[in-house]
Amino acid sequence: MRWTGIIRMAVILLTLLSMWYFAETIFATKWKANSLRSIFDNRAEQVPVKVKTRSKCGNEKECPDNYFAFKMISGAANVVGPSICLEDKIIMSGVKNNIGRGLNIALVNASTAEVLSTGHYDMYSGDIKEVKKFLEPMKEGTLVFVATYDDPATKLDAPTRELFSSFGSSIAKKLGFRDGWLFVGGKGIKNKSPFEQHIKNNKETNKYDGWPEVLEMDGCIPKKMD
Ligand SMILES: *[C@@H]1O[C@H](CO)[C@@H](O)[C@H](O)[C@H]1NC(C)=O
Repeated sequence: MRWTGIIRMAVILLTLLSMWYFAETIFATKWKANSLRSIFDNRAEQVPVKVKTRSKCGNEKECPDNYFAFKMISGAANVVGPSICLEDKIIMSGVKNNIGRGLNIALVNASTAEVLSTGHYDMYSGDIKEVKKFLEPMKEGTLVFVATYDDPATKLDAPTRELFSSFGSSIAKKLGFRDGWLFVGGKGIKNKSPFEQHIKNNKETNKYDGWPEVLEMDGCIPKKMD
């Protein structure tokens, strides 16, 4: 009887042992599967998720620090007015009700992007003296944004064209009747501005009957640093 007892014990032990063994392997595998998954999960968390953030003014490119983002659109024929966005704020537009036929001009602090004043001047039947009056108080370190609507040139005289040239314009001297023009210049800048676009009013190539295609320009203006 003793032997049967010992054998029974041995069988029970063996069963327990093998159960423990299988249990161990199963749990180990499970644990491994879990840890593998958690590794993948961690990885997934660590991979930087590329969220396409919207750039200022809806521009394609983000501007670096110490640059101001801008976007401007010239008027479409004599129907849709121009708009100017600066640092993600619309500073001139039809909705803002601060634009009009002719030259649309915004004066901006070149260090802070603060809008100092805006004005629109009818260059078909307005008075060029008003433009001169508006630009006269400009101090060094002031940016000037210009967007045209309909006709920017009929009343534009030589001294005023010269003034825009001194702000860095290459186009002001030759701007013609119903041409499109976008310009960012500054008082006291030494070179010609890289921010300028011009399209001639030309019956052969005009998009609209009496007017050329709308111009669009965006970019990054370096902040004036003192
Ligand atoms: C621009 O703003 C700075 C800081 O407020 C001021 O010191 C500077 O005189 C301003 N410049 C112009 C042209 O307004």
